[in-house]
Amino acid sequence: MSIDIKANKEEFIELLKSTGREGVEDLLEYLEEGKNDFFRAPASTRFHLNEEGGLCQHSLNVCHAGLQLRELAIAERPDLESDLSRESVIIVTLLHDINKSDIYKPTMKKVKGAFGIWEEVPGYDVDYSNLPLGHGEKSAIMALLGGLEIYEEELIAIRWHMTAWDLAFQSPEAKNNINTARDKYPLVALLQLADGMAANIFEFTHKRD
Ligand SMILES: [Fe+2]
Ligand SMILES: [Fe+2]
Repeated sequence: MSIDIKANKEEFIELLKSTGREGVEDLLEYLEEGKNDFFRAPASTRFHLNEEGGLCQHSLNVCHAGLQLRELAIAERPDLESDLSRESVIIVTLLHDINKSDIYKPTMKKVKGAFGIWEEVPGYDVDYSNLPLGHGEKSAIMALLGGLEIYEEELIAIRWHMTAWDLAFQSPEAKNNINTARDKYPLVALLQLADGMAANIFEFTHKRD
């Protein structure tokens, strides 16, 4: 997937502003003030979109998936239209992974080349020390710290978007919270589905011939 950092940034800003939500401008400033620019950060060190601009690309992919899933969901269940508002879907999908905006540090990594010879290639290391708060919970807290007016169901959807992949899932309390969150708000399941669809299908690359 080739990444157009400038075009992605424009689309991200336009989508977020289209929600008309109070604090969008403040949040955008907050995201760019970080140690790493959100719009240039990768989405991972060695999994999906581990390249410059990957994080914003992934966030847009999740947003595209989320908006399409919203259409499908509402076609089947018109009564859920207000539970799955366009604004909420945009906010949770675009912001679910903002916690990653300050953790990746560019570095050189040794990899085995085509003839078994070690070579150095650019890559990323992780450093969680800037704001050591976790994953989904860190994204939710960053949205608040950034000054966005954000609703309870949006915070909950962002907090639990990792489902069973969340490290805290082993705790009975966390497991119960995830189930309760899904029972209370359909937005939670929609974000989980959109994230999986983007990361595992939209961003899929063949590892074997
Ligand atoms: Fe995530
Ligand atoms: Fe994600």
